[in-house]
Amino acid sequence: MSKPSIKTITVRSLMSALMLAALVMMLLIAFNLRTLSHSIIESEAKAIAEIIKAGLTSHMKAGIMDKRDYYLREIKTVNGINRISIIRSKEVINQFGPGIFEKEMDSITEEVFKSKKPIFILDDFSITPTIRAIIPYIASKEGALNCLNCHQVKEGTVLGAVDIELNVTEHRNMASWVLTLLLVFSIIFAVLIIINIFRTIQVYIKDPLEHLIERARNAYVKHSPMDPEAYNSVEFETVAKEFNAFNASIIANQELLSQMNLNLATLNHEIEDTLRETVFTIGVIEEQRSKETHNHTKRVAEYSKLLASKLSLPDNEIELIAAASSLHDIGKLGVPDEILIKPGKLTKDEFRIVANHTNIGYSMLMHSTRDILKAAAIIAYQHHEKWDGTGYPKGLWEEETHIYGRIVGLADVFDALCSERTYKDAWPLEKVLSYLKKEKGKHFDPRLVDILFENADEFAAIGTQYSWSEEDLALDGDSVK
Ligand SMILES: [Fe+2]
Ligand SMILES: [Fe+2]
Repeated sequence: MSKPSIKTITVRSLMSALMLAALVMMLLIAFNLRTLSHSIIESEAKAIAEIIKAGLTSHMKAGIMDKRDYYLREIKTVNGINRISIIRSKEVINQFGPGIFEKEMDSITEEVFKSKKPIFILDDFSITPTIRAIIPYIASKEGALNCLNCHQVKEGTVLGAVDIELNVTEHRNMASWVLTLLLVFSIIFAVLIIINIFRTIQVYIKDPLEHLIERARNAYVKHSPMDPEAYNSVEFETVAKEFNAFNASIIANQELLSQMNLNLATLNHEIEDTLRETVFTIGVIEEQRSKETHNHTKRVAEYSKLLASKLSLPDNEIELIAAASSLHDIGKLGVPDEILIKPGKLTKDEFRIVANHTNIGYSMLMHSTRDILKAAAIIAYQHHEKWDGTGYPKGLWEEETHIYGRIVGLADVFDALCSERTYKDAWPLEKVLSYLKKEKGKHFDPRLVDILFENADEFAAIGTQYSWSEEDLALDGDSVK
């Protein structure tokens, strides 16, 4: 489920708040409007009551009380007056009699006489809303009319009351209309507020935020800082400035890191080159001690590299074999000089001691964790194994011998046959190839022999490029022994 946008969250919150505010406002307005309406209606009822009172008093003073019914009927024709009744007090009845048109008291009228205060009963929920107003007439000598001149009562005595019923439909309709109008205005106002908020969010938040994200991405990728002045609010301007500072720091660190990586890579290459050179130098030292043919180590490395390459081994392994092959006879450091450089044929015991150089070499290199020395350990151990299992030290069969051991084993013998030794002349290439053909599948991996035959010219070229010199003629070697 996708997360809502800032706009959606704001609108939801705003709608809830506005709806609550509108509801409260409408209730308050409705309540106040009803109170105001009541107040107006009661004032209207009181005014009518005063008019009736003045009229009745005028009739009384003019001595035409028998004509007042006509007067009351005329007043009833006034729009909104449903009923008019007059109630006499006991004092007035005692003085003037019960009257002809007066109404008798009911419980509500009695309450008005007792409290000397008007009572208003509103029925505004019916189809035709009405208000019943019972308003007392209280004797007073104050004002234009001195009641005590005519009535034999005390000041403040209730002389009677007028009981009128008014139709208030018009008031209620007006109140409803005002409420509807307010509701419409409120809705319009709320819609305008939401539109304005939408626009504000769009202009001041959404657009700058999208722009900021896009510019931030470009600023990082293209290394170009953002323009803080492009934003129309303090907050976004601050974010842009902070991002620029952060981005500059990241870029600076990246450049530093790249430079450090470059230095590390250079250093690593130097270390690897140094290790390869060291390994090669150790091989050459051993070559010198064994009185091997000059450049034997170099040629074996190049033949091994060519075989590995034609065998389509991975590039890193080709380089590994070439470098590690230099240590194939490192174990001869553990063979005494008198045996190692003995002219002539070796006895069986002496041969066993020389053959043990494979085990010695392996023991010297096996504990290393470096790839080049681990490969050198395998080669030192297995370069005298034969395809048919008649080699040493383990008598491994066919592919039981690691491919590194098989490659360097062939390269070593190939170079020994092609080189002059104290006990033999250098064989011509044809003779060497003839020998290898004979030993294919016996001493050597047949696939490797095939590769050598197919690329005999390249192997010969290596022999020529790294040929031995007269001064460095070896006196002895074990490669073909
Ligand atoms: Fe060897
Ligand atoms: Fe060798």
